[in-house]
Amino acid sequence: MTEAARVLPFPETPPPARGASAVLCGLGTWLPSRVVTNADIASRLDTSEEWIRGRTGIRERRVVDPGVSTSDLAVEAGQRALKSADLDHVDAVVLATTTPDHPCPATAPEVAHRIGLERAAAFDVNAVCTGFLYGLASGAGLIATGVAERVLVIGADTFSTIVDPASRTTAAIFGDGAGAVVLRAGAPHELGALGPFDLGSDGQDADLITVPSGGSRQRSTHEPPEPGSEFFQMEGRTVFRKAIYQMSGSAQNVLRKAGLGLRDVDRFVIHQANIRIVNGVADMLGQPVAKFVRNIGEVGNTAAASVPLAMASACESGELRAGQRVLLGAFGGGLTWGATLLRWPDIEAM
Ligand code: UT7
Repeated sequence: MTEAARVLPFPETPPPARGASAVLCGLGTWLPSRVVTNADIASRLDTSEEWIRGRTGIRERRVVDPGVSTSDLAVEAGQRALKSADLDHVDAVVLATTTPDHPCPATAPEVAHRIGLERAAAFDVNAVCTGFLYGLASGAGLIATGVAERVLVIGADTFSTIVDPASRTTAAIFGDGAGAVVLRAGAPHELGALGPFDLGSDGQDADLITVPSGGSRQRSTHEPPEPGSEFFQMEGRTVFRKAIYQMSGSAQNVLRKAGLGLRDVDRFVIHQANIRIVNGVADMLGQPVAKFVRNIGEVGNTAAASVPLAMASACESGELRAGQRVLLGAFGGGLTWGATLLRWPDIEAM
């Protein structure tokens, strides 16, 4: 086929309506099959099964095999979300990730292509562990402005490719995975309608969670990177405190914007960074921990995939039921944080 024949004609699509709400109508996930237990980590690092489980709530995590990348997980989760929504096309793909396949270009266009979403707009969002919330807000914005009628939002990360294998702290926490949702244009009263959103950042604390080398700051020096600086680094103790504070604040902000109170929330699905952080948020908000979904024991901290993986696990177990008011929240590097609300739709997670 000639280049002109491949590009033309453009399909005639009616302009979507402006001002629509984004309605969550499909949910899919994908985890690598390789399980790494706490005992596996304790067998090679100066830590113990008890320390990891007691200090983080994590029992095991999934890790990709050599050669498997973020796009591989994102494609699987995206396909499942489309199946869950019973759709075969969307207008845009937003991929939240901190571990793209390459520094350039973005990974989303390749993911869209491999799913068969030809011509869809596609871009990456990097807000580290808040990425999925930023991705949802981006998708909702594309729908509200009439740019897209349907959006696939994927959170996918392979932190095993950036954690220092010799670091007992980060190697014990992070796992790989992907989760995706389909958003469609709809009305604010529908089950699944997202909003309002609360998003925020504080770049003053950018170095609390960082991969120091590999970007223009280091490369422009033309000096070789410091040994170890290509790995993910985190000031765990400070991040721990800030995660509780900012996720609690963001939850309160989004409820204030919605004119709702904490008692109106049936379930909280927040970033699974550490079970003690989830418990800390429940405590700070004065809410029973039973209202907080938890799946960190089986998957660890999966960064941008954390919130959709937690939603899917609670949907499958029946913990999330249609009609319940759900608060989604996250916190991550940047620093960044965010929250949104929805009434849970009648969907099946795939
Ligand atoms: O995803 C978004 C961003 N990430 C997070 O939100 C993660 C936030 N941080 C955390 O979850 C926790 O800070 C960690 C799990 C990273 C660490 O737990 P902690 O309870 O805050 O431990 P700590 O850093 O205060 O260290 C306590 C002790 C230290 O020993 P000393 O100085 O008291 O002798 C550490 O060296 O525990 C030691 N330690 C370990 N010991 C055994 C740290 N990691 C380990 C380990 N095994 N894996």
